[in-house]
Order: sequence, then C-alpha cells, then structure tokens
Amino acid sequence: MSRRGFARVLSAAAGLTATTGSSRLLAQGPALKELVPSGWLIGAAVNQNQSDGRDTVAVDLITRQFNTISPENLLKFQSLHPEPDRFTFEAADRYVAFGRDRGMAVIGHNLVWHSQTPRWVWDGPDGALADRTTMLARMRTHISTVVGRYKGRIRGWDVVNEALNDDGTLRDSPWRRGIGDDYIARAFEFANAADPNVELYYNDYNLATRPEKRAGAIRIIKDLQQRGIRIDAVGEQGHWRLGAPTAADVDRAITELRATGVKVLITELDVNLLASAGAPAPGQPPSPESNPYADGLPDDVQQALARYYADAFRVLLTHRDDIARVTFWGVSDGDSWLNRGRANYPLLWDRQRRPKPAFDDVVKVLMTWRP
Ligand code: G3I
Repeated sequence: MSRRGFARVLSAAAGLTATTGSSRLLAQGPALKELVPSGWLIGAAVNQNQSDGRDTVAVDLITRQFNTISPENLLKFQSLHPEPDRFTFEAADRYVAFGRDRGMAVIGHNLVWHSQTPRWVWDGPDGALADRTTMLARMRTHISTVVGRYKGRIRGWDVVNEALNDDGTLRDSPWRRGIGDDYIARAFEFANAADPNVELYYNDYNLATRPEKRAGAIRIIKDLQQRGIRIDAVGEQGHWRLGAPTAADVDRAITELRATGVKVLITELDVNLLASAGAPAPGQPPSPESNPYADGLPDDVQQALARYYADAFRVLLTHRDDIARVTFWGVSDGDSWLNRGRANYPLLWDRQRRPKPAFDDVVKVLMTWRP
C-alpha cells in the first residue's frame, strides 16, 4: 500500500468518526467512492426499502460508499406505466430524490426491455401483436414522458436492455416483432429527443463471456453510429461467476467494446456462487444439494471470491480511462436477486452489512493501483 493510499484510508476513517461517531459505520471500512480513480462512478442498485429510507443500515452504507445509484426495479416499464393512461411516479420520484439529495449520479434502468413490461404495451386487437405504428407510438409516449420527467436529474438511461441472444443475433422480443429491427434505433432517438443531455446506454449480459454476443453488441453500437444516432456507453452487466469470465476475458471485452468509441460501464456486478441448475421454483424450498451454503460460506470459497473480485478490479483499473462506472447489483448479500430461496454470497457486504474479505481485497487493489 502506498503511503498516500494509507493516508487516504486513515483520513476517511477519521472523518467517519468525527462526523458520525458510529461504530456501525466504521465497521463498513473505507469508502469505495474515495478510492476509485477520479471521474469513476461507483455504485449499487437500490431497492425500494432503501430508496424510501426504511432500511436505515443500508442507507448509511450506500451514502458512505457510493457516488451513483441504479434502481433495481423501480424505473422499469411495469413500475412506471402499468396502464396506457396511467403513470405511477411516486416511488420513482423518491428514488431520484434519494440520489440527488446525496449528490449522486442517478441512473435510469430501463426504457425498452422484453421483461417487466406490461402486456398492454404490445397488445393489438383480438390477441394479435400491435402494429408497428401503434407500438412505436406507445414507445415514444413512454420514453418522452419518463425521460422528460427526470430531465436534468437522471444522469443516464439504459435505453435498450438485453436485446441480444447469446449467439449475438437479435432477440425475438415483442418489441422487435412489432416494430422491426430498428426498434433499437427508434428508442435511442426518442430518448435523445426527450433529453438531449442525458447519457444513453445499451445494456446487456454475457458480453465478457461470449465473444459472439459481444460482436452483436458491437453491431448495435455501430449501427446507431452509422445512422447518426447518439449512444454514449455500453453496459456489460457483470453477472459473473467464480472463474467466468476470466480476467483475460474481461480485458478483451473492454478493449473490443471501447474500440467502438463509446465508454464501457459495468452496470450490474455480482458474482454468483451457486449453480443455476437446481434453483428452486418460486415459492418452493430448495433441495439441500442445490443450497450448499445454507449455513454459511466456507472460508476457502470466501477467499476465492475475494481473489476473484480483486483480479476483476485489477483488470478494470488497467482500463480506468475506458470505464466510466462500476455498479454492484445490490448492496449486501441478503439484498441480492441471486438468492431466490437459496443462500448466495455475491456482493461485498454480508447479510449483517459487514464488509467481507472481498471488500477488503477490492480496497487493497484500489489503494495500490496508482503509479
Ligand atoms: O414485488 C413483488 C412482491 O410483491 C411479491 O410478493 C413477490 C413474489 O415473488 O414478487 C415481488 O416482485 C419481484 C421483484 O423482483 C421485486 O422483488 C419479482 O417477482 C421478481 O421477478 C423481480 O425480480 C427482478 C428481476 O430483475 C426481474 O427480471 C429482480 O429483483 C432484479 O434484480 C432483476 O434485475 C435484472 C435487471 O433488471 C436486468 N438484468 C438482469 C437483472 C437480474 O435478473
């Protein structure tokens, strides 16, 4: 650890004692937002208990650690626009205010996706899909209303989310079937028209593990650029597993995505420690074999997770000028979507909101990267 880095941690800890006197906060360790390269955003997806202020321990942690937030579910189509003539902005407004009150970059997630979108958006007469004109009009209304409402307050939007299959072809989503392949271009146009200053992102998963999917994302970016439509960054969600992607995979992915000219974001980072196979159906109890860490995480796995996170951050730091933001998908292990009835341990804080060895190792990497 450099002397300068060490001094930063000491001063961060001292500031904490002086301003809060809280051992609970001190237990969180140094603040990631003070350690990342200048200009980087580092954040977490927050849930409604957090943005509404009920989960006070998490609120303290988010406030202390991060300079950006993403909405885990609150700004999705179904949350904001459940019926054609009805928008529900109350919880979303509180989410935006939560971030603005803390001086954070507030992210919007997301505008156009095949999931968490109400049926009416795609429905036409007699059970058929709506025609292109109708669907485009609904898309435009949604985007202009939502982006317009938060104009100047939201830093950037995931305009289109998960438009690709794993082989890099375009997913056959209702948006694509109703509008055609140019639904992506139209969504970016509508978002730009609603707020010419908001950042516009394409966001997807498996871009680091699957080169053919990454090639698909690069085609989307280049297509927008050739049409003269603005796109500011591409998000690799970062739903990773121990060992996949490797550090070399992440390095290659960032290099190739950045070669398009747009910045790269890691938008939904977590590290899944459980096999996908054997996940219980919603509401069902997991089998013991599918839930190996129900009573806690063995130390060797805890250490392997810490090493994986450290390696990942080392690579991200070699690309510090290519990356604009790293966002974890959740704050602590208990908050994560990856639990789904099982005990998973994908994040940097444990269920008691104590920093894990992975947090300590990420901090060490962040403190030693400077030349
Ligand atoms: O709010 C209801 C609750 O009232 C009900 O009792 C409960 C019963 O299942 O469901 C609750 O809704 C759940 C919601 O999360 C809020 O917790 C939904 O069932 C559940 O499907 C939903 O999952 C979200 C998922 O997106 C949906 O696709 C996860 O929280 C959220 O983390 C996840 O986030 C996605 C990103 O948006 C896109 N990339 C992948 C990422 C992980 O899947």
